[in-house]
Amino acid sequence: MLSRNGLDYESLVKKDRVHISLYTNPAIFTEEMDKIFHRGWVYVGHRGEIPNPGDFRLKRIGRQPVIMVRDQQREVHLLLNRCRHRGATVCQREQGNTRSFRCMYHGWTYLLNGDLSGVPSMDGYGEGFKREELGLVKVPRVAEHRGFIFASLSPAGIALDEHLGRAKEEIDLFAGLSNPEEVEVVSGIHKYSYQGNWKLAAENSMDGYHPSIVHASFAQALMDKITHVPTPEQQQVDRNFAAFRGNARDLGNGHVMLDYRMRIYDPLNGDPAPEVKAVTPEGEARLNNLVQRFGADKTANMLREGGTHTFIFPNLILIGIQMRVLQPVSVDRTEVSLYPTLLKWLTPEVNAIRLRSHEAFFGSASFGGPDDSEIFERIQDGCAVELEPWQLMSRGLQRERHEDGMIVGDLSDETTQRGIWRQWKKVMMQGEVAARSVRKRGGGAVAIKRG
Ligand code: FES
Ligand SMILES: [Fe+2]
Repeated sequence: MLSRNGLDYESLVKKDRVHISLYTNPAIFTEEMDKIFHRGWVYVGHRGEIPNPGDFRLKRIGRQPVIMVRDQQREVHLLLNRCRHRGATVCQREQGNTRSFRCMYHGWTYLLNGDLSGVPSMDGYGEGFKREELGLVKVPRVAEHRGFIFASLSPAGIALDEHLGRAKEEIDLFAGLSNPEEVEVVSGIHKYSYQGNWKLAAENSMDGYHPSIVHASFAQALMDKITHVPTPEQQQVDRNFAAFRGNARDLGNGHVMLDYRMRIYDPLNGDPAPEVKAVTPEGEARLNNLVQRFGADKTANMLREGGTHTFIFPNLILIGIQMRVLQPVSVDRTEVSLYPTLLKWLTPEVNAIRLRSHEAFFGSASFGGPDDSEIFERIQDGCAVELEPWQLMSRGLQRERHEDGMIVGDLSDETTQRGIWRQWKKVMMQGEVAARSVRKRGGGAVAIKRG
């Protein structure tokens, strides 16, 4: 069974390896944009980025420019950023606050809900001109979970609830069970880009095998900095991230996670940290709920440093206190945006610690982010080698187990990478499966059907 590109994804994505052309072939990238990013659910942004009426931010769904905006009634809209007259983008500022969007070519003006409100020299148009039909196009499907806004450019498909499945609980823990308006996302954005395929960052974000090697300097810096006297066991954990107790889990639908919540000791916690307290009754209730489930110490760590470590297919990564969004640009170019989050019901001291722990490892001048980007570019370069063109992803395959309906591996196993690729192959072959059944039913030759 071949894809529209004449490629057989079944032979390129195997159980224990993937072919390097999946990172380098521009035709595959185009098909990914169409099938994964334009038709499936993708993460767009969070309500906390646009807290006030009139606030907007520019986003992209796959390659298509979108405005995420909150109107005067506090409703959030996703509007395709393309004037209905002759097609110029109507907004170029990355973020801001406005009453309307005015296209700078001929001055057509749109309200925050996308309606076309003004057309200069209207008398030039005949009676058939219907202003009410010429608003900015709205993204066909928009849905949210705890203020995380997802969208699909396809009018039909599975519900967001079904797509997220077990990942919903991880979003809940990342948000400290906060309601959609209690998450603050206005502390700035870390941005970087790298010369490599977008899937390299997805795989790496859930790779529990690499930290003790790639981030060895960070581990050493921690050892130098901590002021307490660690036990021998703690020293071992500090030096070797792989010694963290935890596991790798495939949550289904391409969502995967590393569960560090099982760890016995928190190496980032060498210095005294502020007590975790709530400043609102609602916050108090959330805190109690978490303490009952995870105990006081783990809850405090989760709120100071992040409640989960999860990849939500295809473009959202929740690590530490950040939402990390992958923006594929071309087959070998990717932009990454890191949005640190604060919780409105925590004390300012705890929120400050959230930001400091984020900056230490993930900022542009930090210990972790730059190390990983360097690896992505080395892999992309290595993909030019055509003999033995495979990347191995077999680690832990023999010891994977099924628990509670999930595939579970050890923390450093490639269970997570395999989970991402399983979903990738499923989505990329969907149209082809449809085509095959059409061919079978019809009995004659039918061109490969898209969709
Ligand atoms: S292209 Fe926007 S007003 Fe003409
Ligand atoms: Fe890393």
